[in-house]
Amino acid sequence: MPSIDGKRFLASLHALGECGALEGGGVNRLALTDADKSGRDWAVNRMRELDMDVTIDAIGNIVAVYRGTEELPPVMTGSHIDTVRTGGLYDGNYGVLAGLEVIATLRDRGIRSRRPIAVAVFTNEEGARFQPDMMGSLVYVGDLPLEQALTTQDAEGRTVGEELERIGYRGHEAVGSPRVDHFVELHIEQGPVLHRRGIPVGVVEGVQGISWTEFTFEGVSNHAGTTPMELRSDAGYVAACLTTFAHDLALGYGGRQIATVGSVRLTPNLVNVIPNRAVVTVDLRNTDAQALERAEREVLAFAMQAAQTQKVTCRHRSLARFDPVAFDASVVDLVAREAERLGLNVLRMPSGAGHDAQMLARVCPTGMIFVPSIDGLSHNVREDTAPDDLIQGTQLLLQILLRLANRPS
Ligand code: GLV
Ligand code: MN
Ligand code: MN
Repeated sequence: MPSIDGKRFLASLHALGECGALEGGGVNRLALTDADKSGRDWAVNRMRELDMDVTIDAIGNIVAVYRGTEELPPVMTGSHIDTVRTGGLYDGNYGVLAGLEVIATLRDRGIRSRRPIAVAVFTNEEGARFQPDMMGSLVYVGDLPLEQALTTQDAEGRTVGEELERIGYRGHEAVGSPRVDHFVELHIEQGPVLHRRGIPVGVVEGVQGISWTEFTFEGVSNHAGTTPMELRSDAGYVAACLTTFAHDLALGYGGRQIATVGSVRLTPNLVNVIPNRAVVTVDLRNTDAQALERAEREVLAFAMQAAQTQKVTCRHRSLARFDPVAFDASVVDLVAREAERLGLNVLRMPSGAGHDAQMLARVCPTGMIFVPSIDGLSHNVREDTAPDDLIQGTQLLLQILLRLANRPS
């Protein structure tokens, strides 16, 4: 088996990390911003240097294909290069650049696999600016209509379509092309499990279900000093109650129930004015589909009840909703086998974060590889992974891609 060039690979992570770099470390490359464009330009340039055939589809997904010896559907890897506003160097970027390092290694040695190998950069995986998350891959697999994705607005009212056009990434390739033979995504774990246990590879068995809901509470703004407590319609108070309710509900369910209120926007947001409006997001996740549904019902019932008690109106809309996903058993086993071949201990585990792989799993056999995140930090500028773990993960990806791409029909 050829070995990847660890030094070149690590340098590529830092080079891409310059696009949208934050002072003091980390990256802000929110989807379809100028920084995202600079990251995309960097990636496309690298793909062309590697003589890959690069296409951009109508939702801005970039797919680069390294030709095989036969014209068959490609084995695909890849991930995303958009980040949250306070992102690190590795979330998503690691999977894309590892894919390109695999291609660079094969090309250096003149190796062509039987099937082509494709590296994809999917649009707006994070969902931090435009919801839902995993937007590009969801359109790719045909489960979000292109028009609906293109007309999605950010908080300032700019649409995905306008922003794609503005940065020059509204492509012409038909969405969903090429048809994918297998998909394998390499990603940092983004949680503490592997690092705490000193295990270098996570064999990902699936992804937990994800439910994002936005609640809008509307009451009456009034003077903070003169309005008696019992005469208030305080939207901010209802938002606070919902926050503690969701947190306590997750603790009460135990196991794998997760709840996060990550965004609360109060209007008018002033020290001496009772808020008349609060817009709150609730992120619920669970590997158990039924428990997730129960949590959603309880959160909704609480929000309505709390609003009514405080004489506040309540509206809600779903921002994203994905059931738990189980990856293909043969790909999961292949990841474990190849890791063991490299002498690496593995842990079979679910993914807590959402990934493009969970969408590709709808159309082809799919799996994922995790490497440890130091102290489990992610969506944080201090996100980090040991260089040896990054390099081993990429070598493992190379072996898995070659096995899949060279297998007989
Ligand atoms: C995507 O990063 C997520 O929120 O899981
Ligand atoms: Mn990611
Ligand atoms: Mn992320």
